[in-house]
Amino acid sequence: MGVEIRKYQPGEEQVLYDICLLTGDSGVDATGLYQEPALLGEVYVGPYLRFAPEHALVGVDADGVAGYVLGVPDTLAFEATCERSWWPDLRARYPLDRFPADSPDGRIVRLIHTPPEASPEVVERYPAHLHIDLLPRLQGQGFGRQLLTALLDGLAAAGAPGVHLGVSTANQNAIGFYRRMGFTEVQTYTHSLVMARTL
Ligand SMILES: CC(C)(COP(=O)(O)OP(=O)(O)OC[C@H]1O[C@@H](n2cnc3c(N)ncnc32)[C@H](O)[C@@H]1OP(=O)(O)O)[C@@H](O)C(=O)NCCC(=O)NCCS
Repeated sequence: MGVEIRKYQPGEEQVLYDICLLTGDSGVDATGLYQEPALLGEVYVGPYLRFAPEHALVGVDADGVAGYVLGVPDTLAFEATCERSWWPDLRARYPLDRFPADSPDGRIVRLIHTPPEASPEVVERYPAHLHIDLLPRLQGQGFGRQLLTALLDGLAAAGAPGVHLGVSTANQNAIGFYRRMGFTEVQTYTHSLVMARTL
């Protein structure tokens, strides 16, 4: 069996959370970094599946779901929806003092309590945003391109004129991939970049 690219289906939340953790340390396995394995997925996967399932695509091989791309056409609307309907429950489950502040878990819990907001200049031109993660067994064979292209088509069809994403400067592999896929740097921070492209 080859690899099928299709819409995410309800019931696949856990495997997507797992893939998020297995690629969560600048593209490589973050399992050893976190005490709470669900934490990364609660930030980078869960709200996309809940609020934008029509833009959630997966790559499936004979062993199951092995990669995903998630996105939203309107980042500001998504941030407002999360503020109302996603973060409150997580803030109650993960109080700020749950983990040491300078630990990996503690840093994600801080994001839950103070989610970063996309900057106005970026969302004005590039209102959509996305996340893409493939397990090693799916990488380097064109499936990232296929998943991303399908997502970008969907975001454009939903009316977004441009899309942005955040990437760690430690993840040079992903930066090379995004450049090849037409993204350029629009903001530079100490440990991360914002990259964007029009649709
Ligand atoms: C980054 C990632 C999504 C790329 O997907 P992929 O399936 O490995 O990439 P593809 O094989 O589809 O490559 C698509 C194109 O990008 C190019 N490319 C991929 N990696 C590249 C790199 N490091 N530098 C330059 N070009 C690169 C490929 O050569 C290919 O070019 P072509 O289609 O014009 O021939 C995938 O490797 C991944 O999920 N990595 C781990 C998780 C991760 O880092 N996610 C991003 C977090 S911000």
